[in-house]
Amino acid sequence: MRKLDAVKAYYEKYAEQYDKDYESLEWKLYDDLTFSYLEPFLPPLIDGKNPPCVLDVGGGTGKWAVKLAKIGYKVVCGDISDQMLEKAKEKAHKERLEDVIEFRYMDLRSMPEIKDNSFDLVLALGDVISYALDDVESVKELYRVCKSGSHCVASVDNKFVFLINEIKGERWDTIEPLIKTGISDYFPAHPTKVYLPDELRTLFIYAGFSVEQIAGKPILLTMMPKKIRRRKLENQYNLLLELEKQLGKDQNFLGTGGHLQIAAKKK
Ligand SMILES: C[S@@+](CC[C@H](N)C(=O)[O-])C[C@H]1O[C@@H](n2cnc3c(N)ncnc32)[C@H](O)[C@@H]1O
Repeated sequence: MRKLDAVKAYYEKYAEQYDKDYESLEWKLYDDLTFSYLEPFLPPLIDGKNPPCVLDVGGGTGKWAVKLAKIGYKVVCGDISDQMLEKAKEKAHKERLEDVIEFRYMDLRSMPEIKDNSFDLVLALGDVISYALDDVESVKELYRVCKSGSHCVASVDNKFVFLINEIKGERWDTIEPLIKTGISDYFPAHPTKVYLPDELRTLFIYAGFSVEQIAGKPILLTMMPKKIRRRKLENQYNLLLELEKQLGKDQNFLGTGGHLQIAAKKK
């Protein structure tokens, strides 16, 4: 398996700033879309005594772990970055959720400490599969730890947007290798594996999942220059969010998403 030193080092440093960056309207839209495409796959909460268990791998500063624990789920939040996990622990402490969230060092590609078929929902949000690079091993692990009949919801970076960026930057030599391997060094801190919707679908089917949904997030805003995006969001946030939700799962639009979010079921 490949070494993840670069991605780990990046998140160790970035941990302090991570949540602050998500306060912008652009990232708020991204988070609102993430939850809206995740919500239909949350397992039902029947009683308070035996809440369903969620694994949030690559859980970072605990954004989704804390949100789901507040709703009533038991959560295991795992990550390769100690600093990201420290931030997550602080948040859980503030919300008095230490009893329902367990934090662990965990590498998505190999999670031997987790038994087969043990979670009612498995999350790998925030493009963790893209950063793990060994994607076949990663998605097989997600499949293994997911209970039969339960869902995995994950997101990755979209190849289409990376291609456009290479063309904008006139990095002509990178284009063919990017199309073939999907590995990009566009982001200088660490390599990233990017996908077209069908490549993402194939990866999950190969691991044994059946794919129930792929959505692009965001699909319209990604097509606009950054300055314009901000202005549009300041003026019409709710309208744009509703449009994104209405069109983001549509085959005709999802391919322009900055990120792709998949929901897949273990039979
Ligand atoms: C963009 S952050 C996403 C955090 C969180 N899921 C969210 O949506 O806010 C990506 C996270 O993945 C973690 N990560 C990268 N590679 C990983 C791996 N192989 N196993 C577990 N975590 C990993 C990073 O340390 C970082 O915390």
